[in-house]
Amino acid sequence: MSKTKLGVLISGGGTNLQAIIDACESGRLDAEIVLIVSNASKAYGLERGKNHGINTLVSRNDEQIRDAFKESGAELLVLAGYLRTVTPTLIDAYPDRIINIHPSLIPAFAGKGYYGIKVHEGVIKRGVQITGATTHLVNDELDEGRILRQESLRVHPEDTAETLQQRVLEIEHKILVETIQQMIGEI
Ligand code: GRF
Repeated sequence: MSKTKLGVLISGGGTNLQAIIDACESGRLDAEIVLIVSNASKAYGLERGKNHGINTLVSRNDEQIRDAFKESGAELLVLAGYLRTVTPTLIDAYPDRIINIHPSLIPAFAGKGYYGIKVHEGVIKRGVQITGATTHLVNDELDEGRILRQESLRVHPEDTAETLQQRVLEIEHKILVETIQQMIGEI
């Protein structure tokens, strides 16, 4: 049984990418990352990939990105802290094969304007007591695809957006690997 080939898209620090790299290397994921694409040339996640001998590409052109993933043999794409909107060019090339991780319990604090730290700022401002993370399939509507996995946590009274983000990130890393494992079993 050959390993499932993953394509990962990032925009920033790449801690979700690192969680996938670690899971592949430890054998927890029967997969290998064949290409990492970033829209941002300075994304530290690119360094993480290079440190593990994984090919990387910086691009904002979905035709170029689609062709690069197809060329690499990627079968499943993962948006791991990817801040650009994926266009139908990429979605049509990978129907029901693009996973996104969002740092809230969708539909709460999701959609336009809710990304990264802004999600947690919204949670703190609204005073909700439970938040968490969600993985879902990517379709043409931002953060609207079929929900795959969610895990919740309690917001502490003393939490700031920053302290909350750190705790939610740990859940993101956990459910992202679990979601990829689940999807590998289905393709
Ligand atoms: C984080 O805010 C995370 O919640 C969201 O994207 C941001 C960067 O994640 N998914 P990463 O460290 O680049 O994976």
